Amino acid sequence: TRRAVIIGTGHYLPERVVENSWFEDKLDTSDDWIRSRSGIERRHFAAEGQATSDLALRAAREALARAGVEAGELDGIVLATSTPDFTFPAVATMVQAGLGMTRGFAYDVQAVCAGFVFALANADAMIRGGLADRVLVIGAETFSRIMDWTDRGTCVLFGDGAGAVVLEAREGAGTSDDRGILASDLNSDGQYRDLLYVDGGVSTTGTAGQLRMQGNLVFRHAVEKLAQTAHTALDKAGLTPGDVDWLVPHQANLRIITATAQRMNLPMDKVVLTVADHGNTSAASIPLALSVADREGRFSAGDLVVTEAIGGGLSWGSVVLRW
Ligand code: ACO
Repeated sequence: TRRAVIIGTGHYLPERVVENSWFEDKLDTSDDWIRSRSGIERRHFAAEGQATSDLALRAAREALARAGVEAGELDGIVLATSTPDFTFPAVATMVQAGLGMTRGFAYDVQAVCAGFVFALANADAMIRGGLADRVLVIGAETFSRIMDWTDRGTCVLFGDGAGAVVLEAREGAGTSDDRGILASDLNSDGQYRDLLYVDGGVSTTGTAGQLRMQGNLVFRHAVEKLAQTAHTALDKAGLTPGDVDWLVPHQANLRIITATAQRMNLPMDKVVLTVADHGNTSAASIPLALSVADREGRFSAGDLVVTEAIGGGLSWGSVVLRW
């Protein structure tokens, strides 16, 4: 069986760190409220002039270096973002140019906070289908550019950043113990558009718009759907939550993550947490968490890793892999 294995990870966080207390004299909010309701303590914001592709390129370079792969050895780039530099071309092509690549494919995937899970499943399908041997998968966002700074229910929750992984095809023996991506589960339900959306766009307002969210409703869907999709992906791989070594969840809210771990019967020491330091970086949150945990040496070869995410659409999904 041909499988896609993660052979390198990388990430980049903009230099500017903003603590919760920064919001206290701008809005009717407090460090205590943000911390206790979301688990977020600080987040990074991109500098003026620093675009999504700039963050993505830095994460990409680190992932390639750690994988020991030259840009010219890649067959393609799949990049998840909802905050592209421009309407087109795809941010992925700007990263491609930045890496000095002139061959292979490069395109963006847009599934908001679930974007990286969708991109990873997409790249995995291409590798298994024989369209590519090596794919760079990136999640990169500058959500600070679509915040309504007067809405305390949203602007305290998000941050900027980028993470990347290099996927490489490996021929395995076909047992569930083989390394690589074992199964994925992807879902969308567009009837929930109004729960989480950006109120602008090229074909409507002609503006970039700002993020609008009914947080408590999204919260309820998240708690139910994240455990469900993780179970489904595990089931497809012939595995159960008892087999899981690491849960690497989308980092939106500590209470959502804790509830999902509970529903999967997983102790919190098997859960990778970066939400306190990064906030919600949308499609960047999972590759950021993977890269940070990888850097800390937390994953061993053969560990069963489950990622899951939900975001605007609603769109949600899970990818199960052996490290
Ligand atoms: N500071 C102080 N009070 C606040 C703040 C704030 N920053 N924000 C909201 N409040 C108030 C509300 O106004 C409300 O007050 P009221 O009762 O007087 O009306 C009260 O706090 C409770 O508000 P809720 O929204 O019910 O609070 P909740 O416990 O649900 O927490 C939160 C809000 C953190 C947004 C939570 O709902 C959440 O995390 N939701 C999910 C977010 C998410 O996962 N999004 C999906 C991914 S994002 C993507 O795809 C882009």
